[in-house]
Amino acid sequence: MTRIAYVNGAYVHHRDGCVHIEDRGYQFSDGVYEVIEIYKGKLVEERRHMQRLERSLREIRMAIPMSAAALGHVLRETVRRNRARYGFVYLQVSRGVAPRDHGFPQNGCDPAVVVTVRPKNKDHARTAAATGIKVITVPETRWKRPDIKSVSLLANVLARQQAGQAGAKEAWFVDENGFITEGAAANAWIIDNGGALITHPAQQGILHGITRAVLLDLARREGMSVEERPFTLKEAYEAREAFLTATTSVVMPVVQIDERIIANGEIGSIAGRLGALFADAVELS
Ligand code: PDD
Repeated sequence: MTRIAYVNGAYVHHRDGCVHIEDRGYQFSDGVYEVIEIYKGKLVEERRHMQRLERSLREIRMAIPMSAAALGHVLRETVRRNRARYGFVYLQVSRGVAPRDHGFPQNGCDPAVVVTVRPKNKDHARTAAATGIKVITVPETRWKRPDIKSVSLLANVLARQQAGQAGAKEAWFVDENGFITEGAAANAWIIDNGGALITHPAQQGILHGITRAVLLDLARREGMSVEERPFTLKEAYEAREAFLTATTSVVMPVVQIDERIIANGEIGSIAGRLGALFADAVELS
């Protein structure tokens, strides 16, 4: 099937989509992005993704390139043109094209907007979630603003590569105080022996994951004990269950952290239940 991308106002063949060599996203990572799940041809949690996009843009002092409604139309149209029922939409907004100079272009420039679609098998996340994954831990080497969903992801890229080489699917960052912040491309969670759900607070040091936010709402609504606080590597090693959340993997059980087997290597029942709750509760548009 022909893949279609949206590039600066035009729908083009994916293989022909390109941006200028002096695009500031390419030169400086001067841009932000979102990844949104496509489920039954609809966008999952579009409203929250748009709010986070606007926040990321605001933090790098950019205006939203078009209204959230117009952007939503572009996303849906790209999904439609790709005939994607399941998969992911990638949206990137960079500051645009200008002669290379670190400060913002004095005369301004038009933002560059790119949308691509990656179709996926309907059950891809569920299949992986059935066995759980291994994660490794690595030192937190990122800048202090991971709350901005910036395309500047070199530390994340290196961490994920290291994970792959260690036979793991994800790397969890451990900060200078010994606390796990989050993964290279996912938020990190544990469930302690008392059944409390624990994840790093969003105030600083992590991306404000959409899956994380939805799951927190759901867990509270279910009356579960929820603690948004930093947790240590030791707590993670001794956890009853561990899992990660991201648009691309929803709720993914973690059965091994470094050399430690978690929950006897079995996928935990609470993570499984949260995954099912999530599937029933998400907002589709
Ligand atoms: N990554 N933390 C980081 C560093 C991430 O890159 C992501 C998502 C998350 C989870 O956020 P959300 O639930 O909103 O997807 C947490 C996307 C999927 C990516 O870069 O591909």
